[in-house]
Amino acid sequence: MAIQGKISKISGPVVQAEGVAGLEMHELTMVGEAELIGEVVRVEGETATIQVYEDTVGLKPGERVTGSGLPLAVELGPGLLMGIYDGIQRPLEVIQKMTGDFIKRGVKSPALSRGTKWHFVPVAKKGSKVQGGAVLGTVQETPLFLHKIMVPPRLSGTVKSIAKEGDYLIEDTVAEIETSSGIEELKLYQRWPVREPRPYQERLEPSDPLITGQRIIDTFFPVAKGGAVAIPGGFGTGKTITSHQLAAWSDAEIIVYIGCGERGNEMTEVLLTFPEWKDPKSGRPLMERTVLIANTSNMPVSAREASIYTGVTIAEYFRDMGYNVAIMADSTSRWAEALREISGRLEEMPAEEGFPSYLSSRLGEFYERAGRVRTLNGEYGSVTLIGAVSPPGGDFSEPVTVHTKRFVRAFWALDSSLASQRHYPAINWLTSYSEYVDYVEHWWTPLTGGQWRQKTLRAMEILKREDELKEVIRLVGSEALPEPEKLVMETARLLREGFLQQNAYDPIDTYSSPEKQYKLLTSILAFHESANRAIAAGVPASKISSLPALAELAKLRMSVPSEKISIIDDFMSKLLKEIDALTEEKS
Ligand SMILES: Nc1ncnc2c1ncn2[C@@H]1O[C@H](COP(=O)(O)OP(=O)(O)OP(=O)(O)O)[C@@H](O)[C@H]1O
Ligand SMILES: [Mg+2]
Repeated sequence: MAIQGKISKISGPVVQAEGVAGLEMHELTMVGEAELIGEVVRVEGETATIQVYEDTVGLKPGERVTGSGLPLAVELGPGLLMGIYDGIQRPLEVIQKMTGDFIKRGVKSPALSRGTKWHFVPVAKKGSKVQGGAVLGTVQETPLFLHKIMVPPRLSGTVKSIAKEGDYLIEDTVAEIETSSGIEELKLYQRWPVREPRPYQERLEPSDPLITGQRIIDTFFPVAKGGAVAIPGGFGTGKTITSHQLAAWSDAEIIVYIGCGERGNEMTEVLLTFPEWKDPKSGRPLMERTVLIANTSNMPVSAREASIYTGVTIAEYFRDMGYNVAIMADSTSRWAEALREISGRLEEMPAEEGFPSYLSSRLGEFYERAGRVRTLNGEYGSVTLIGAVSPPGGDFSEPVTVHTKRFVRAFWALDSSLASQRHYPAINWLTSYSEYVDYVEHWWTPLTGGQWRQKTLRAMEILKREDELKEVIRLVGSEALPEPEKLVMETARLLREGFLQQNAYDPIDTYSSPEKQYKLLTSILAFHESANRAIAAGVPASKISSLPALAELAKLRMSVPSEKISIIDDFMSKLLKEIDALTEEKS
């Protein structure tokens, strides 16, 4: 019998219920006659406090509250990909069709379509022993993605029956498992509570980079597969565009994109642009490997609070199949604001800037769900978490940025002054960092003859020197600089304009293969070394700076596609010859 009580108090999205002894923390509840979806967030004797995921306008004290006996959970199975959900996994497109543009309250629509048939190919054999994570069979969910149907975690036993190859509905039984407590009928999907990390065998050190095709990221501030990174940035500095770029180009098998509390029009842009993107390898729409979760600023705040857990649980499910998954959450600051609002309604004691004292631990719980793991089935999978942070006024000393920093190991600091100079991506190379460099260095070794670290350090040294020299120039003017330092300024400009800047809207520049990244970097450095020799021989720096080819060097990022980088070699041998000729004239 479901536990039933009555509403005693309503405060925005937070409702108090009486006479509900036995309701559990995190239990899914139906609130009011309209059966709004809610989750228990506090239990005190016979009273429970419930966070309601739908608009509570019109709800009245005295209306009934019913427990479900189950925690707030997501449905995991074929049909997730190409899906667009709200923060508690209600399918947005389906709901839109049912109710028009706005989601009406109390509308129930299952996350995974009940009417779609999937072609199931069995893998497990009758009579075999299986445990959580074991693959029962597969479904080619989209041309880009093979979905593995797994035994849910914490279940083990003997396969009593397994369905034959054929087309099945999501709720059809595809396997029966004889367990110590009876027979379990397994369907094409499973449920998992969103607040609970899915189990794995072992957590592993990060090992390979998540290649994003974004030069400043891959080359200077890489994120490892299974890593956690923050993109903090003030208003309009490029958080959303950077997140989009990662969703489009990262070499993860699955992308989960959480649009969290951003303006409705930003999310519309996602909904319009994502379906247009094509996988560079297969030419297939990238949505075929993508799950979108949207809780825009005009949707209920409590569902926004839940959205990041919904997203990360879906990601872990794909990880458990042995895939690499990347999540973008834009923006975690809007999530934290939802947390703050709910905490206020709960009449909790506020801490820094009104945020609850558990802001930090909640952020920690989220980012700790990133990781590279050995799955229950013994395969390797990863969840990479990329969280945008929108500090008010771009001030990185505010609580969400500060606490996020404790849990992420890479930090791509977007800079308002770079953005206003239209230097995009506006990632500041002096204040950003990545602790994944040591982990991913080995990956670059074959591609760079073991020179990756040395070359990136050299380039960074030039960029740092430029920053120091800028101060000198401010005091004494650039003409007073010694010739070699004039060259440093020139090379740093080339690095900024020809390497660090990357135009998301340019069809060639938008993605740079690792080979192209390295080629561009080493070309600019080769120019620098050769120009340095010329200067040592007495060639004035101004003469080198005025070589017409330098302007071209800065534009190679846009003129040379990733598949044609040998063009860069030809270009460089000409440029270096021109510099050698200047040197010879002098000597
Ligand atoms: N890599 C890029 N290439 C080209 N333009 C870019 C790039 N990154 C950012 N921009 C420009 O900056 C603008 C603002 O970017 P974006 O919307 O991503 O900022 P934001 O930080 O998400 O803003 P908000 O604080 O409003 O959410 C874009 O519309 C675009 O013109
Ligand atoms: Mg944005």
